[in-house]
Amino acid sequence: MNLHLTDQVAFIAGSSRGIGRAIAATLLDEGARIVITGRDPESLTQTHNELATPENHHRILAISGNFADTDTIEDAFNLTISRFGRIDHLIANLGTGTGKPGWQQVESEWIRLFDANFFASVRLAQAAVPHLRRAIPIDPGADQTPDQIPDQTADQTADQTPPEVRTTGQSTTSTSPSILFLSSITAVEATPAPLPYSAAKAALNNYAKNLARLLAPEGIRVNTIAPGNIFFPGGSWERHLSTRKQAVEHMLQTEVPQNRFGTPEEIASLAAYLCSPHAAFSTGSTYIMDGGQTRSL
Ligand SMILES: NC(=O)c1ccc[n+]([C@@H]2O[C@H](COP(=O)([O-])OP(=O)(O)OC[C@H]3O[C@@H](n4cnc5c(N)ncnc54)[C@H](OP(=O)(O)O)[C@@H]3O)[C@@H](O)[C@H]2O)c1
Repeated sequence: MNLHLTDQVAFIAGSSRGIGRAIAATLLDEGARIVITGRDPESLTQTHNELATPENHHRILAISGNFADTDTIEDAFNLTISRFGRIDHLIANLGTGTGKPGWQQVESEWIRLFDANFFASVRLAQAAVPHLRRAIPIDPGADQTPDQIPDQTADQTADQTPPEVRTTGQSTTSTSPSILFLSSITAVEATPAPLPYSAAKAALNNYAKNLARLLAPEGIRVNTIAPGNIFFPGGSWERHLSTRKQAVEHMLQTEVPQNRFGTPEEIASLAAYLCSPHAAFSTGSTYIMDGGQTRSL
């Protein structure tokens, strides 16, 4: 399938390893221009060097920094615009499930895990929306310029004109700007994961759903992927396996019908599809990919 992502600009927040790196690599293979990020400049440079070839290096921009920080996000988006001229897709992949088990969680843990798994993604999305609005192709027959697109943040009045109803589908060859959040099955299912992590990801799902409704009239789509257990070298499951192999294998046998980990590449294929204009009718949805682990319908 041709995903029609050639030259589209995807900003992948948190992409020097794991799921984010795989999403970046897949989008790059699909012809997109990508921005990869991470706090550690050395591992980011290494990832850049591993992804870059003589043919594609001009389509990769690497920016290191803490992308939970608003100023860093703004600076990076401005750098992206000056390099690539636009941003078509934000993939907010930041997050960490590393924390303590049990009900007694100190407040600083709640704040740390909410900042990493919820507020960082909210800051990214808020800063991205003005850029995504500009990515929407303008109908040559219409008078509207991107700056004239109604501001959904303005105070709403009771007699607001309803948004224009679109009766035709978007062409699969047009752009279809989007935000994609990386959540977790812990957002939708009771699991032994740290309480603040699960609650933060559940908040992210809720935010994504409501944001999708607000941005749909502007042509910006918002979706969420909720992965199950994803293994890769250097990832959290490699650490768990090294310290409690038997317990992890027992968990896979009893909780995951496919009896295996998922791979970052499997998540990345879904992510690329959701960025593509083939998914133009998809917004406000959470896509679970977990080998059958979740039990709820
Ligand atoms: N792996 C799983 O089994 C699994 C399951 C369900 C959901 N998820 C979710 O999927 C996402 C990715 O998971 P993962 O396992 O691939 O994570 P990971 O191994 O921790 O990788 C996260 C990536 O983001 C970067 N990063 C983290 N915080 C950052 C920040 N504040 N600013 C800039 N870059 C940052 C990291 O680089 P630096 O450390 O250098 O900053 C790294 O490149 C997360 O949201 C996670 O909660 C993962």
